[in-house]
Amino acid sequence: MELDSKDVIRLIQAHPTSVVTTVNEEGVCNAASFSWLSPVSFDPPMVALMVSPERYTYSNLVSSQEFTLNVLTKHFLDDVMYVGKESFKNNPNKLEETDLTLEKSSEVDPPRIQEAVVWLECVVDAVHEAGDHLIVVGEVVAAEVDGEFWKDGRFLAEEAEILHHIGGRKFLVGGNLVEWEG
Ligand SMILES: Cc1cc2nc3c(=O)[nH]c(=O)nc-3n(C[C@H](O)[C@H](O)[C@H](O)COP(=O)(O)O)c2cc1C
Repeated sequence: MELDSKDVIRLIQAHPTSVVTTVNEEGVCNAASFSWLSPVSFDPPMVALMVSPERYTYSNLVSSQEFTLNVLTKHFLDDVMYVGKESFKNNPNKLEETDLTLEKSSEVDPPRIQEAVVWLECVVDAVHEAGDHLIVVGEVVAAEVDGEFWKDGRFLAEEAEILHHIGGRKFLVGGNLVEWEG
């Protein structure tokens, strides 16, 4: 079955939908949702965000060169959708209309979101053009996980009930863990 080009990208899904915080030149925090993201390097640890240049978040990434990636659970789906639909450009108070609480990060200016289960504090290392988005590569300079969801060197994503976006209003949560025994 062939697909329209707009649907092709929906076939590749996996990484946790996250709320990315950034700060503008006045130091005001913004938050927006990202489901197109990926690990890109073990050493140093790096992650990439695919960011449309239309996002206010993008201007903040360019000016401040820092971001904090916060992985939220299904319990915060309303907030993930809210900050993922409202832009700071039209609504600079968008964070105040959520249940999300900001707390100081340890190494970067963009604050963490207290309600998250994973926090990655990142410094922008490179920006690459790619179609209608930019690939923003960030080096992880501090990382933390909610200890409840870390066991035997593994993040218990299925227990944490984090969100995997499959497009539009739909997400996968939890699921069956399969371990290769070969
Ligand atoms: C679940 C979800 C996932 C999203 N993923 C991305 C993404 O990967 N890249 C992107 O540029 N925008 C993504 N967006 C859109 C931005 O979050 C949205 O445009 C937001 O309003 C930008 O806010 P800002 O202009 O204040 O930065 C997503 C939105 C939702 C709801």
